[in-house]
This record gives sequence, C-alpha cells and structure tokens, in this order.
Amino acid sequence: MKLLHATIRMRHNITMAAALAAVSMFAAPAARPQAQPRPAAQAPGQRSPVAPTREQVQAAVNEAYEKFKSNTEGKNADYIPELAKVDSKLYGIAIITADGQTITAGDVDKAFSIQSISKVFSLALAMEEFGPDKVFEKIGSEPTGRPFNPVEAVVDMPTHTGNPLVNAGAIATVSLISAPSADAKYNKILNFYSKAAGEKLALINDVYKSEAATNTGNKALAALLLKYERIYADTLESVDVYTKQCSVGVTAKQLAMMGATLANFGANPITGEQVIKRENVPEILATMTMAGLYDGSGGWAWHVGLPAKSGVGGGIVAVVPGKGAIAVFAPPLDKAGNSVKAQLAIAYVAEKLGINLYSPRSVGVK
Ligand code: DON
Repeated sequence: MKLLHATIRMRHNITMAAALAAVSMFAAPAARPQAQPRPAAQAPGQRSPVAPTREQVQAAVNEAYEKFKSNTEGKNADYIPELAKVDSKLYGIAIITADGQTITAGDVDKAFSIQSISKVFSLALAMEEFGPDKVFEKIGSEPTGRPFNPVEAVVDMPTHTGNPLVNAGAIATVSLISAPSADAKYNKILNFYSKAAGEKLALINDVYKSEAATNTGNKALAALLLKYERIYADTLESVDVYTKQCSVGVTAKQLAMMGATLANFGANPITGEQVIKRENVPEILATMTMAGLYDGSGGWAWHVGLPAKSGVGGGIVAVVPGKGAIAVFAPPLDKAGNSVKAQLAIAYVAEKLGINLYSPRSVGVK
C-alpha cells in the first residue's frame, strides 16, 4: 500500500491550460461536447472548464495499467476455494462515461465473480420496491469499522444489520426483496443486474458451488439476524440467493457500465432504460462512500474521494456522479479484502483526471 500512498500524493499533470482547451470527457451528457475555451471564473450553472479530453483519459488509463501491471502485492481470496484458482495476473481497467463512451486497457473482457459489488445493486433493487426510508429502517446505513463478515458487528451494531454493503446487511437486503420463490428472487436480481449492465449476465456456477459448500459463516450471520428479528425471509434461502448473486459473472467493461448507470442518474447510458429510480441514487452512492471498501472506506474517501465498491473476486467500481464510472479487475486482495491493483489504478486515474468529489478542482463541477 506504500505505492498507493505515493500515487495519491502525486500531483496531477493535466495543466489548466490544456484542460481549458479540452472537449469534456467526464462532463454530463446533456450539454456536451463543449469545445469552447472558457474563463476560469464561471457564473453559477456553467460547466467546469477542466474536463479532460478522451485522449487524456485514455492516456491516464494506459499509464495506470503499465504502472501497476507488475505489482505483486496481495493475494487472491481463498476462503472461497474457486477464487484461489483465478489467474492472479489478470488486470483490466474500464471507464464508461455517462454518455456511453468506453475507454479500456488490459483484460476487460474476462468474466469474474461480482461478489460484494452485487450488494450495491441488490440495495438498489430493494429501494426500487420499498423506497429509501423503509430500507434505511430495515437495514440501516452505519459503517461498522470492521471487516465485511464478523459476528461481532451483528452483535454490536445498534441495527444489527449495520448497512447493506456488509454481509449481514446484504443478506437481510436480499431477504427484503419480494418474490414467490427463491429461484424467482434470484432471477429478479439477475435481471436487474443485467439491465444495469445493458446485457444478459450469467452465474459462474463453479464459484457458486464453491461458496455454497463453504459459507457456514454467512449462515451463522443469518441465524444471528433471526435472533434480532432483522431478517425478513427464510434464513437459509436468503443466504443461498445472496451466494448466487455474489457468483454472477461480470467483465470489467460490464461492471463499468453498471457503475455508469449509477453515474447517469440510474439510466443505462447505452440502452437508455431507467433501471434505478433517479431519486434513489444519492443514498446508494452515500452508502458506497461509507462502507464500499469495508474498514478501508475511510482511507479511501480520504485519499481518493469517490464512492466505490469492492468484491473479493478482485473487482472494484468507482462512480463519478453525473460523469461516469471506473471499474478495475485484478484478483490479489489486501487484508481488508480489496483488490490492491484496482485501488492503485483507480486512485491514479482519479488523481490524474482531477475527479475527487471533495476537491474544489473536481472536474465537471457545475
Ligand atoms: O459473502 C462473501 O463472503 C462473499 N460472497 C462476498 C464477500 C466480498 O466480496 C467482500 N469484499 N470485499
């Protein structure tokens, strides 16, 4: 992680002069392209002049790919045996903008299991059905400050479920989603994810079987939730559907499109379908900021400043609201369960392009 910090300390290289002449890449779709140079001081409501060009975005992605390609820190998750077999060298970076432009480098067409990144989209599905207030009441949205699956968090958190992005909260979120059977619920979830990705996604059956054979910890979390009356359907059935949703295969490109759907006010940038209610997006992104990288979320917000979500399959997606999403796939994880190279690559690109949400120089701020 030394490299991450060094990268994050790196100052951006895109000069204001170059950026002033830029066609906006991370600009919101409605008013682009804006090729006209503008003065630095803008009237309220005007677009920021510092959006990077497509070439600058591609250059940043290429640099991030080359810079971290040989990094050997971290290791594949192995508590789900099938994940240990995935080639640790796979590495792909994909950006998709809110107006559907794609910029990639590396292994962006290789399917991997979505794992915990699925939790974001099941949260979105539960919110479609019940709205943010009920989901907040039934699940909560407080960071646990702990890893993604300890029993202690269920016992100690006042809501017990914690938030929808840790295992207990995610299993409870799945239990909330209505369906006549477990199969129907899984199909409803898969269909929703597919709409966000803009194409049909499929289960990676070997990963599902591998996790289903070893997920005693998640079954224990669900049983504990039952004790606190914080699970809303059959416990084992909820764990099984949750395990299947975690085993859905995505490529880095598909994951970037799912993120871009969030960035684009809930509408898929290519199909145009309004997958997620526009008004639910802020709560989803807020939850990602607080808990998307588990007990690494605070450091991530501090250094990178983008809502993001990781999965033990090696994926991370980060969302730039209104602008686009970056997804990276690289299996070796750090101790918190977050992909090492994905963190480095996203941090690098975000710094280079000036897309930290909390920075006054954030690109595209209107
Ligand atoms: O339940 C589990 O343990 C996995 N299916 C998902 C965990 C996960 O991805 C945590 N991520 N960083």
